[in-house]
Amino acid sequence: MDRETITTGDLRLRPFEEADIAWVHRVSLDPMVQKYLQLPIPYQRSDAEHFVREMCVAAWDSGTRAEFVVESAVAAGGSASADAISADGRLRLGRVGLGLDRVGGGELGYWMDPAARGRGVATAAVRALCGWAFGSLGLGLVEWRAEVGNGASRRVAEKVGFTVEAVLRQRLVHRGVRVDVWVGSMLPSELPAG
Ligand SMILES: CC(C)(COP(=O)(O)OP(=O)(O)OC[C@H]1O[C@@H](n2cnc3c(N)ncnc32)[C@H](O)[C@@H]1OP(=O)(O)O)[C@@H](O)C(=O)NCCC(=O)NCCS
Repeated sequence: MDRETITTGDLRLRPFEEADIAWVHRVSLDPMVQKYLQLPIPYQRSDAEHFVREMCVAAWDSGTRAEFVVESAVAAGGSASADAISADGRLRLGRVGLGLDRVGGGELGYWMDPAARGRGVATAAVRALCGWAFGSLGLGLVEWRAEVGNGASRRVAEKVGFTVEAVLRQRLVHRGVRVDVWVGSMLPSELPAG
């Protein structure tokens, strides 16, 4: 699959690269990311290397995942963690991605740097990702899943246009504990315009 960059408003979604590893490691240690994503515990630098090299770069090449760094479209001023600033001065804000099932379906995943939360970045980035997935990849459905109680993730999905369809009982194991899961989906015709 050819790597692509998506621009939306003042955000840019671009493929991962080696230089993102330190930032991925730091954000993956955030308590909310650790609580709601299925990550190795304890989360080591080698886990961030595996995520970037295998799940982002290699999986894009094999067509099984499309993972993007969400960053500011232009070089940003102000204070930020050193690991959040790209070589070209853009600010790394978060990650959005899709697992691809090869029959036209995608499963959404996302997290934001704690410093970038609460400003609508996840909503704008997920909306752009879904627009690209339906338009450029030709997907017929994008699915969203989150642990029951992850209100911020659900709010993002609903703002983008997902319909929450069901609770899947005890369907995921987070930190060794079985948890209930919200599942929702969006079809190409349901992506709001604009
Ligand atoms: C989920 C996450 C990506 C949202 O990122 P964000 O950039 O803050 O999202 P946005 O600013 O676009 O929107 C967040 C919305 O959730 C709302 N929200 C925040 N915390 C909430 C909570 N505990 N319960 C309900 N809604 C909540 C915000 O008010 C906002 O809604 P509004 O615009 O109507 O006010 C971020 O919280 C995160 O990284 N969480 C940890 C990782 C995670 O859970 N990923 C999803 C796994 S399925």
